[in-house]
Amino acid sequence: MTHFPQAFPATRMRRLRQAPWIRSLAGENVLTPADLIWAVFVHDGEDRMPVGSLPGIDRLSVKDAARAAIRARELGIPAIALFPYIGADGKDETGSGALDPDGLVPRALKAMKDAAPEVGLITDVALDAYTSHGHDGLLDEDGTIPNDATTEKLVQQALVHVGAGADIVAPSDMMDGRIGAIRTAFEEENFTNQMILAYAAKYASGFYGPYRDAIGSATALKGDKKTYQQDPANSDEALREVALDLAEGADMVMVKPGLPYLDIVQRVSSTFGVPTIAYQVSGEYAQIKAAAQNGWIDGDRVMMESLMCFKRAGASGVITYFAEEAAEKLGG
Ligand code: PBG
Repeated sequence: MTHFPQAFPATRMRRLRQAPWIRSLAGENVLTPADLIWAVFVHDGEDRMPVGSLPGIDRLSVKDAARAAIRARELGIPAIALFPYIGADGKDETGSGALDPDGLVPRALKAMKDAAPEVGLITDVALDAYTSHGHDGLLDEDGTIPNDATTEKLVQQALVHVGAGADIVAPSDMMDGRIGAIRTAFEEENFTNQMILAYAAKYASGFYGPYRDAIGSATALKGDKKTYQQDPANSDEALREVALDLAEGADMVMVKPGLPYLDIVQRVSSTFGVPTIAYQVSGEYAQIKAAAQNGWIDGDRVMMESLMCFKRAGASGVITYFAEEAAEKLGG
């Protein structure tokens, strides 16, 4: 005797969950190394330089970055996103180091392209790693970040990157109109095949903390980035940002941070149907690692689950500090 309203449940959902083979057959999404973009920090030293707030992540020398490109190829990771650590003496008020064609990023790009030309290289277009005040743009005396003057710098920086072999530039600065300006410059300079991945919906987030530590801008940052990055309360605004960046010539768009913003990933990918990349940012990685180190969660399991959730939300790829570890687990 049971208490079911009928003699038995008409639909037994558990039939499709009873064994691994049927679960995989009925599965809706898959995660493979081809979904991952490996976030890599480079610095000007010889040795690996650990990032305290990102357990397991080191800043790499240019030589080791080239080895990482080879490792990505072996693992089936299609692309690497490169982020520079610039020491205090490499920073100035206008971030001039960002425009140096012999700077750290151009040198790393060349070494990586030489080592593994099959691996896509993505660069961060923004001045924050290079400015003494830690902002993504120029800083006027009254504390404002001038939009159009900053954009001209970003255009120059993007040209330096593609000149050194970047396949995709990813402007993360959130200035208005910068995608169109970069696209125009690329067309003029004959970089017609180079792609733009717009950080279209980038929020003013506390989850970037460990990253600012990693690129050496945590102590430098004056104020916050709320006059250019989005308010976490907003969702429609993200769609407007994406529409503008696509109209200006972006090939792909990014939503950042990742997990707390999966609703945005879902809205953007279903509304626009363009390649939508999610960025699982430093604070997300650090949370998972810290809880795992304390034995509070199963780190491997949560890593894989978090990455799969991006696929479910409609992301075509994920920038993540877990890329190497996850690809190894996936048997790449
Ligand atoms: C800015 C930039 C940031 C990140 C990537 N590019 C930080 C910021 O906007 O302050 C954060 C990435 C992360 O937290 O992993 N150029």
